[in-house]
Amino acid sequence: MFDDRSPTRAPSIEVRGLTMAFAARVIMRDVDFTVKPGSILALIGGSGSGKSTILRAMVGLLRPASGSVAYDGADYWSSPPADRTALARRFGVLFQGGALWSSLTLEENVILPMQMLGRGTRRDWTTKARERLEMVGLADAAARLPAEISGGMRKRAGIARALALDPSVLFLDEPSAGLDPIASRRLDDLLLSLREHLGASIVIVTHELASVFAIADTCVFLDAGTQTALPQDRPTELRDHGPTPLVRAFLRREDPNERRSAP
Ligand SMILES: Nc1ncnc2c1ncn2[C@@H]1O[C@H](COP(=O)(O)OP(=O)(O)OP(=O)(O)O)[C@@H](O)[C@H]1O
Ligand SMILES: [Mg+2]
Repeated sequence: MFDDRSPTRAPSIEVRGLTMAFAARVIMRDVDFTVKPGSILALIGGSGSGKSTILRAMVGLLRPASGSVAYDGADYWSSPPADRTALARRFGVLFQGGALWSSLTLEENVILPMQMLGRGTRRDWTTKARERLEMVGLADAAARLPAEISGGMRKRAGIARALALDPSVLFLDEPSAGLDPIASRRLDDLLLSLREHLGASIVIVTHELASVFAIADTCVFLDAGTQTALPQDRPTELRDHGPTPLVRAFLRREDPNERRSAP
């Protein structure tokens, strides 16, 4: 199904001592984790814990209060602007909400990033856009407008657009929010095949526990109460032996405040 390879190997990503704040309000402090090339990391935690904020620091949209986000050893935020731009071209991003341009067809939406970069011809862009739409199962919907397709299809179109520039790292903020269980499962399979065939690393923010267990190699749990992240670990390890009752309850979908009756 896929015949192309990512032109650049996925970088190793090292987040060290990352502290994120809005004005004087600290959201998360001293966050550490690593994304090995070709691996899938899930950022998890309650609503408002800072998942999207950390993602924004990783893609270059929000400067950290302190700490570093290094790609192959080079800190993004202390690199010169030209290096940052070059690096950011290797990112594919699906934002929370994942808005598409409503007046453009799906094909035109996928073409847009290529057009903005200005390399290649219209014909190249169209071919590439059709390939990407095919990858996410939307070959037949290329000429439709976002309003003419379902929510799940819009998510997949957003992923096709994030893939337009052959990213070596894919950042996805809540890609399965609002999808039915089967669509959500298909999205997991799509992400696993993208990792396999494009060799891309994936950083995903998700509330979908089934997805976390199905696709994440490791996960980082953000605890809004303490404004700290727990040490990165495999999802099953955190669920069974996580260092705090909260993370174990979170991954078991239990209410940590409710006393459980003895089995
Ligand atoms: N631009 C901003 N200015 C001020 N505070 C912000 C801003 N963006 C986010 N915050 C605050 O930072 C905290 C973390 O927000 P963030 O969006 O990262 O949470 P999240 O973990 O992604 O939540 P959700 O699961 O609901 O998407 C929240 O308390 C939020 O109100
Ligand atoms: Mg968010």
